[in-house]
Amino acid sequence: MTIEKMHAVVFDKFGEPNVLYIGNVDKPIPGPGQILVKVHATALNRADTLQRRGKYPPPAGDSTIMGLEIAGLVAAVGKNVENFKLDDKVFGLVGGGGYAEYCLLDAQMAMKMPSNWDFTYAAAIPEVFLTANETAFELGQLQTGQDLLLHAAASGVGTTIIQMAKNSGANVYATVGSEEKATFVLQLGATAVANYKTTDFLPWIMQQTNQRGVDVVEDFVGKDNFTRNLAALKAEGRLIQVATMSGATTEIDLRTLMSKRLHLIGSVMRSRSLVDKRAITKRFIDRWWDKLIAGEIKPTIDKVYDWHDVIAAHERMESNANIGKIVLKIT
Ligand SMILES: NC(=O)c1ccc[n+]([C@@H]2O[C@H](COP(=O)([O-])OP(=O)(O)OC[C@H]3O[C@@H](n4cnc5c(N)ncnc54)[C@H](OP(=O)(O)O)[C@@H]3O)[C@@H](O)[C@H]2O)c1
Repeated sequence: MTIEKMHAVVFDKFGEPNVLYIGNVDKPIPGPGQILVKVHATALNRADTLQRRGKYPPPAGDSTIMGLEIAGLVAAVGKNVENFKLDDKVFGLVGGGGYAEYCLLDAQMAMKMPSNWDFTYAAAIPEVFLTANETAFELGQLQTGQDLLLHAAASGVGTTIIQMAKNSGANVYATVGSEEKATFVLQLGATAVANYKTTDFLPWIMQQTNQRGVDVVEDFVGKDNFTRNLAALKAEGRLIQVATMSGATTEIDLRTLMSKRLHLIGSVMRSRSLVDKRAITKRFIDRWWDKLIAGEIKPTIDKVYDWHDVIAAHERMESNANIGKIVLKIT
């Protein structure tokens, strides 16, 4: 059997964004339960930039091509797929392979796109919306009236959590690294914001909460924030650790956990099993689909690039300039 070829963003060595180029690779063939999607848009995640640097290898069995989320048209269906047909508009989370003309998507993780959405809008949703629901609401159990300390609040995940928390009647205390981001997250619905580069967030959050502390901390920063995150939690509070952008190794005084009965919970989406990812998708749909369709929660799109400009897109993410999602149009 001849294997068809397609274009995809690839790299031959790890390094700076300029290692990326559009090359030829094998076009995937859908297996049972999978659909093949003609990709019209994908979106960037930090995982892509780390993969390009050789610091985040794709889990065994997943595509080695970057790209964790896609939107496009169904181009072929594998065996046992009954809920999708050719040319349906779909979007969803993938284990890799999004930076390509064609990508496989598990039919149980595929979501049908409303006809009035464009592909760039849909591609900005899966990774950060599923992560936001799973971490802040499923693991963090953030409830109406509770207080959340949210770091990297202008990130893709952060801008989603702000909207979901506001929609749920929870209060979001946000940290960001620039005044432009501070203004943006306040407009999006944050209760208050601090620039962590000029303000120590621990005295700030204690003052904001009348010394009570918060119910949940969502942290992407790791080492630089860890001790202060624990100090910022009230009794029975939950620290949700989702990334380690400043470093992954730290010290802990275990008495802090004991005396306040704290919960320390970590989560990584990418390495979860297919069964888990299907369940994560379903939990997101059950809770947020109607609000997403109604536009009550929306992806925050920073910039859309043609995929021929993928180098510039990676440079923008690594300079921490983006507010929300950077999207690639596959042309
Ligand atoms: N565990 C999971 O399942 C999962 C899923 C999705 C994403 N993630 C992780 O979640 C994080 C956010 O993802 P994203 O795609 O939404 O990111 P993003 O849009 O690229 O935003 C990341 C932001 O974090 C801030 N930041 C970077 N380094 C920092 C540091 N050392 N200290 C404090 N803030 C720093 C920067 O904003 P400022 O200008 O405000 O500093 C940067 O713009 C990433 O680390 C990503 O890998 C994890």
